[in-house]
Amino acid sequence: MDTIYSNHIDRKNDDRNIHVFSETLHILSRTFNSMIIRSSIDGIIHFVSSNIKKFLGYDADDFVGRKLSDFLHEKDKSKFLNSFCLLSQDDNDDSSLTLRVKKRDGLFLWMDLKMKMLKDLHQRPVEYIYIIQEIPVDNDENLLENDKLSLIGQLAAGIAHEIRNPLTSIKGFIQLMKSDDKKRDEYLEIMENEIDRIDSISNELMIFAKPNHSKYKYHNLKDIFKTCVTLLEGLAFQKQIKMVLDYDDEPVCVYCDEQKIKQVIINIVKNAIEAMDEPGKIYIQIGKNGDKGILSIRDEGCGIPPDLIDKIGQPFFTTKQNGNGLGLMMCYKIIEEHKGKIDVQSELGVGTTFRIFLPLDHVE
Ligand SMILES: Nc1ncnc2c1ncn2[C@@H]1O[C@H](COP(=O)(O)OP(=O)(O)O)[C@@H](O)[C@H]1O
Ligand SMILES: [Mg+2]
Repeated sequence: MDTIYSNHIDRKNDDRNIHVFSETLHILSRTFNSMIIRSSIDGIIHFVSSNIKKFLGYDADDFVGRKLSDFLHEKDKSKFLNSFCLLSQDDNDDSSLTLRVKKRDGLFLWMDLKMKMLKDLHQRPVEYIYIIQEIPVDNDENLLENDKLSLIGQLAAGIAHEIRNPLTSIKGFIQLMKSDDKKRDEYLEIMENEIDRIDSISNELMIFAKPNHSKYKYHNLKDIFKTCVTLLEGLAFQKQIKMVLDYDDEPVCVYCDEQKIKQVIINIVKNAIEAMDEPGKIYIQIGKNGDKGILSIRDEGCGIPPDLIDKIGQPFFTTKQNGNGLGLMMCYKIIEEHKGKIDVQSELGVGTTFRIFLPLDHVE
């Protein structure tokens, strides 16, 4: 009678221990954001933590009675089975693997699997425990998708930025026309050019595809600059800034896409104007040095702090409330495509000089 009673107590205790153990595993799995699975020595699963639904979409019952290998990617099965065999040979070892687990919806999830053999008091293997965590995916396909997405984002913001420049100037000239009708024709012409620029911006997208060399011709840098001057003087005038053009008539011919170089000039001069809070001057020099044409734009603005100078040209680097930090990125990209380079020198509180170097000869 006593024996039966004590058996009954033992079984009751066992049941309670099993229940407490299972509950503990459920709590641990949630706390450490991991799935916990237990299988017998032959691999048949008898316990799955309830958060399996969150990771893989299954109910625990879908897993119980099956083997983990049934849910692995074909290419990862042998890797898993190998380390399973190794574990049963070497007592002390536990094993760690990265493999793809099939979700209920058929897609695969990269997961980190830690496997350990559990033993009883007599060191006899009893079961396996698996701890499975999701790992961030960095496989090529995903990287490609992310790259594409960030590029589309950058381009969208870039287009908005490029359209805003000419729109601001058209708006400015409409206001000027309202107060001064005499220069109407001149203003209208500028506005028309600006509208053409907006029109051509969709083509600018191609800059990120491949360079369109059919638009490359020899152009005199001084002539290109002249075509931007009226627009830039319009912008500078509003802030009582004077543009000082310091160059002679000798042509500086570079092989380039004229529209793109205009875009670079306008962006850099606009930045120069924006850097100046007080009336002052912007000095423009155009000349040659060896096999390079040089366009230099020097302002008397706020300057760039030395610790930020390396950030110049990085997408989205801006110190302006309404800036988007894409203007210079475009400039660097365009000049790079022309096999040229941009250099920046700046002194805080004194001013900044941007120098654009372009090869005088056509470089393949
Ligand atoms: N001439 C300049 N003087 C001082 N800082 C400048 C000058 N040009 C560019 N910068 C700095 O570089 C940043 C990035 O410029 P840009 O790419 O044109 O973007 P955004 O003009 O939208 O800020 C600016 O926010 C500014 O901090
Ligand atoms: Mg800018």
